[in-house]
Amino acid sequence: MPTERRDTIAGGFSETASDYDGAVRYNLEGAQRLVLSIPPGCYDDVLDVGCGSGWATQAVIDRFQPAHVTGVDPSEGMLEQFAAKLGAIGGVEVSLVQAGVEDMPVESDAFDLVVCSMAYHWFQHRWEAAEAMARAMRPGGVIAILCSGKGGEQAYRDVIADVEPINYQWLGAFDGNLRDIPEMEGYLVGAGLEPVDIWMERRVRHVPVEQYMERMRVVAGHIIGDPSEPDVAAWLAKVEARMIERSGPRGWTYDFNKLYAIARKP
Ligand SMILES: C[S@@+](CC[C@H](N)C(=O)[O-])C[C@H]1O[C@@H](n2cnc3c(N)ncnc32)[C@H](O)[C@@H]1O
Repeated sequence: MPTERRDTIAGGFSETASDYDGAVRYNLEGAQRLVLSIPPGCYDDVLDVGCGSGWATQAVIDRFQPAHVTGVDPSEGMLEQFAAKLGAIGGVEVSLVQAGVEDMPVESDAFDLVVCSMAYHWFQHRWEAAEAMARAMRPGGVIAILCSGKGGEQAYRDVIADVEPINYQWLGAFDGNLRDIPEMEGYLVGAGLEPVDIWMERRVRHVPVEQYMERMRVVAGHIIGDPSEPDVAAWLAKVEARMIERSGPRGWTYDFNKLYAIARKP
């Protein structure tokens, strides 16, 4: 399976890893809400796929006190953030593996719980990703996925469709990344899993334009480009000016949809 794009994405996350926790704090709340939705149970062996800086793992530790967590992520920089925060947490054995969901060297039928928080929308092969995660689960095990949902970020998409030169890769990424409930159900059922619950939450937020721009830099720097390059800086300045024009008294208004899924392996 080609991993070139995966490595570009992981490289982008490594570049901005030290800014991740500050810029994308809503992902922490998302991970907490995801983990709160997992059925009560004993989850000793946990796999966190696309673990990033460890927010989902932190939420799992807080709620279930597992014995062992394996975090998998292709981004070295994000794994460093994870290790600094959670590498030596008391009572939990943590193993970190630099790999993608496509080629993660983990045992089959080994995990009571697989979590995958805000990473699935970056996977290039989502059917195979669901199968790989299902393979890793023990029969009776649970998977909990949170990713970006279809329909969000429209105001920003409208801005970048208007700013020239048009960044087609960035514009198209939203269509490719944002998934809906039936698609998620398809991935899970296709992987032999039984969906327990799949739902979407829609939030409307008001933030300063700079805060939104910083969030996009941190999660999508690999697509937007290097802001120290003059042409990227010029494009970003036009985007920012257009967003300021379209902002209201409470700042830049945008909606964001989060798609949650819980499933069980029969
Ligand atoms: C937005 S971060 C989410 C991190 C963390 N799970 C959280 O909830 O904050 C997305 C993560 O997915 C990782 N990622 C990207 N492509 C991946 C792949 N193919 N397999 C596994 N992880 C991947 C990135 O390196 C990044 O750390």
